[in-house]
Amino acid sequence: MTVRHCVIPAAGLGTRFLPATKALPKELLPVLERPVIEWAAEEAVAAGATDLVLVLAEGKDSVADHLRPDPDLERILDERGKTAELEAVRHAGHLARVSVVHQRAPRGLGDAVLCAAGEVGENAFLCMLPDDLSVAERPILAQLWDAHVELGTTVLALMRVGPDQISRYGCADIAESRGRRHRVRGLVEKPKADEAKSDLAVMGRYVLTPDIFAALRDTRPGALGEVQLTDGIGALLERGEVWGVEFEGELLDVGTPAGWLQTNIRLAARDPALRRALDAALASAAA
Ligand code: G1P
Repeated sequence: MTVRHCVIPAAGLGTRFLPATKALPKELLPVLERPVIEWAAEEAVAAGATDLVLVLAEGKDSVADHLRPDPDLERILDERGKTAELEAVRHAGHLARVSVVHQRAPRGLGDAVLCAAGEVGENAFLCMLPDDLSVAERPILAQLWDAHVELGTTVLALMRVGPDQISRYGCADIAESRGRRHRVRGLVEKPKADEAKSDLAVMGRYVLTPDIFAALRDTRPGALGEVQLTDGIGALLERGEVWGVEFEGELLDVGTPAGWLQTNIRLAARDPALRRALDAALASAAA
């Protein structure tokens, strides 16, 4: 079993980041010197994906352009001897094959994933929401794929969150645990804190099996009036097992202004070239 596709739903309006995202898709906001979509693509490729399927809203195709070759820009940088810049531009444009499908209306994450059905075909595939960056020795998507190879089922990324946080996420009801792997009995999207069956939240990284598409076609709008991926996966439980992995490593939020700022600072602190500038800025801010 080898990975081929990674579906990246990126059709959202970016309302949490307005007005920055009025004209600029949130997936093109920079985190250090690279846009969010490139960090996401890197993780997918590190987990073995060769084909990225971007689910975009009309007008957001610039997100895909970032991951495509740009021969004119490459030629100019080459002529000017801008070797490092040329390398960076080439890198982004040749990470993987890229295809785009459009979600015509914001009908929810489940509907967005369903839009990718024609591209993915009959194989299990990776799916990731680019609102968080993965910082892990083994990429989180790769940890999920490892579990999929052993178990053969749909696999979700799970993380323990506090009771005040769970209503922001899909929540897993657990039937059985083997170390950091948990067999899921049920899933509820955005439960009220006092109705949550566990503290295990679904974290926007998935291995999905192709039967998800039929399940999503039959899924009616749920939480927030949207077709929820969580509900589509929940429907698979009637026929087989679904597992979750409490992954090793961290997800860093880049989908909200505060999270984005913290993530930039965390990553800058690890970058020798930026560390001094960061220290100087923080020292002067504290003065
Ligand atoms: C989506 C999913 C939810 C998951 C979350 C992770 O929700 O529907 O199950 O827990 O991503 O970030 P959203 O954040 O789009 O509201």
